[in-house]
Amino acid sequence: MGVPLLDLKRQYAAIGDELEAALIEVARSGMYTGGPAVEGFEKAAAEYCGVAHAVGVSSGTDALLIALMALEVGPGDEVVTTPYSFFATAGSISRVGARPVFVDIDPVTYNIDASKIEAAITERTKAIMPVHLYGQCADMTAINDIARRHDLPVVEDAAQAIGSERDGTRAGAFGTAGCFSFYPTKNLGAMGEGGMVTSNDNDFAQRVRQLRNHGMSAQYRHEHIGGNFRMHAMQAAALSVKLNYLDQWIVQRQRVAATYRAKFTEAGLADGKVTLPTELPGRHIYHQYIVRVPQRDELLQHLRDQQVGCNIFYPLSFHEQPCFAYLGYKAGDFPESEKASHETMALPVFAELTDDEVGEVVSTIADFYV
Ligand SMILES: Cc1ncc(COP(=O)(O)O)c(C=O)c1O
Repeated sequence: MGVPLLDLKRQYAAIGDELEAALIEVARSGMYTGGPAVEGFEKAAAEYCGVAHAVGVSSGTDALLIALMALEVGPGDEVVTTPYSFFATAGSISRVGARPVFVDIDPVTYNIDASKIEAAITERTKAIMPVHLYGQCADMTAINDIARRHDLPVVEDAAQAIGSERDGTRAGAFGTAGCFSFYPTKNLGAMGEGGMVTSNDNDFAQRVRQLRNHGMSAQYRHEHIGGNFRMHAMQAAALSVKLNYLDQWIVQRQRVAATYRAKFTEAGLADGKVTLPTELPGRHIYHQYIVRVPQRDELLQHLRDQQVGCNIFYPLSFHEQPCFAYLGYKAGDFPESEKASHETMALPVFAELTDDEVGEVVSTIADFYV
């Protein structure tokens, strides 16, 4: 039978008519970049995240880049972040000429270990960039405390976390900037590329708006050196439709997570072989469903042989990436991150996944461990 890791066609089957109508409207409008579709999405997304400003941009990677540009982070500066995330987190720091400084992760949530951040701050530190990995917020109370004490801005990499919450605040509303990705596989996915920067800081948001359009403050007057980071109107239109379903999809993902827990428990795997995700108080949106398992690579092969979708996020920590060798870190510097990269794997999770499919994933894993 098999179970896909993700099947976007099921989502399209449910809301395709609405999406097509929204796309046709843009096609007929003749406004293909920026314009009312983008403005409408920005307004709805700002409200959803509980922030004053949302600026639609070309991708999550560009959201991170533009946030750092707006903070004037550059050569000679350091940005404290996690070694365990998608490449764009550290890549964006290097691309503005700054140095990523890594702090190991908390082995339970896989997010940056806030208790270790302060030791990594130097006089060159220009920002802190936590990632809300897999859809659960980092410890933002502790991180914002440290940031306040050191007068540092916080750039949240919220690419995987739209709608996730901690202490009543949504991802993207904790820091100076929240950076989101609408890559198609995200909980809120475009039909192509897209991203967003959120902020409660008026000046910062204004700067981001200018930077996304070559730093332009008035027609062909360039206040800053920016780039073309504009959001496509078609993507904004599709995202506006999908945003109306996001909370429902999150509830369905949470239901999938609860079903996994019940079935792993039933199979006698939950308290020994398979370490299930830990849900902290707040709202975990289950962008990914990550388990920690013994013999991870063998299990991965077994699942693939049975056509059960699975993947490794992420097989290498940043300090192990060839392109970051120049940073001078060595194996063993971030043991929890390295352990997670060897012991964890992602199982299928998406709103339309059925209980039977979850059952098939669990029984295929149970077969491996008999
Ligand atoms: C944690 C994280 N940061 C940044 C990005 C970059 O987003 P994008 O692919 O939209 O450029 C992604 C996703 O791809 C991500 O998961």
